[in-house]
Amino acid sequence: MSLQRLFVDVHTHIYLPRYAALLRSRTNAPRIFSRTGPSGATEDRLVILDNEPSDGRPVGPQYWDRDEKLKFMDRHGIDISFVSTANPWLDFLPFADAQTLASELNAELESYCSTSPPLASGSHSLKRLYGIGLLPLVPNAPTSELPAAVHALAKAHSHVRGVIIGTRGAGNGLDDPALEGLWAALAETGLVVFLHPHYGVDGSAWGPLDNGHVLPLALGFPFETTTAITRLILAGILDRHPRLRILLAHAGGVLPQLSSRLASCIVHDPRVASRLQHDARWYLDRLYFDAVAYGSAELSFVSGAAREGSRRMLFGTDHPFFPPLGAEEKWRSVVENLEAIEGVGAWRDEERDGVRGGNALRLFGLA
Ligand code: URA
Ligand code: ZN
Repeated sequence: MSLQRLFVDVHTHIYLPRYAALLRSRTNAPRIFSRTGPSGATEDRLVILDNEPSDGRPVGPQYWDRDEKLKFMDRHGIDISFVSTANPWLDFLPFADAQTLASELNAELESYCSTSPPLASGSHSLKRLYGIGLLPLVPNAPTSELPAAVHALAKAHSHVRGVIIGTRGAGNGLDDPALEGLWAALAETGLVVFLHPHYGVDGSAWGPLDNGHVLPLALGFPFETTTAITRLILAGILDRHPRLRILLAHAGGVLPQLSSRLASCIVHDPRVASRLQHDARWYLDRLYFDAVAYGSAELSFVSGAAREGSRRMLFGTDHPFFPPLGAEEKWRSVVENLEAIEGVGAWRDEERDGVRGGNALRLFGLA
């Protein structure tokens, strides 16, 4: 099959066995614990958010077993996955521990990918799995050490093509001037930065009704991403590092929807405007958006807001989160994301192919 027709998942997670073991050893979040479930059987639960509702979520081999990842890919026709550690990454560890674990997990991820099966079709020599690695970008990290971590990752892990980061940087957000060397190193190495939420926003806005995970995940996550990337843009980071490539989780939160309002607010605040080289909407064309939005209207909007449109959007699943509740063969979360791509009326077939896979292969340097 032509490379341009492959299905590529850029938003799919794991907890590598070493990381899952760490979560099991902990007594407070983030943690994995076992309990006796309603049926009397023992079940494992994952608690990663502070004050997480409903005793967290079920967790199982989908999170750590590579065969499960490959089975999931086969079931949904996914040819290649760019696998990243799920939140909260190393955020809860002191820097020295995070540094050690980042190196160990990156090496494990490299081997997870490099020993994965080859793509069966075509004459290309691609693997089924590639990785998005980790940095010891944790609260109070000595930021002068981060560029070396980036270079070490880029140098020795040919199947790891990016880094996944949260929104807090070294504790002061992504607009922290102390991160300048980090952005420079990421731009220089060409590693793709996958910006992903974890903390949501102030939960006091969610009210007293028990809405489970709905408000933190549906609204808190995208709002968090939106704030983080907006701060990064307003700090001039995309102006100073034109080669930096940032992929935003969940279709960029609400940045595309609010970009004109953002532009207007900037224009009316000359101190901020003087810091930027471009209108706020221009920066949408500097970013990449996963297509994890579950609806055609949302994908149409995002691609319409950026000049390069569909070329900056990339299919993702968020596996193993949002599993089916019943015995369905295919995961609703995946089917909906594929149907959403299919249903964007304004896209030509080549554009749809791009979003399903071709754009990802280009972004991560495989095509
Ligand atoms: N998707 C994620 O990546 N993390 C979560 O915690 C929930 C959904
Ligand atoms: Zn995710």
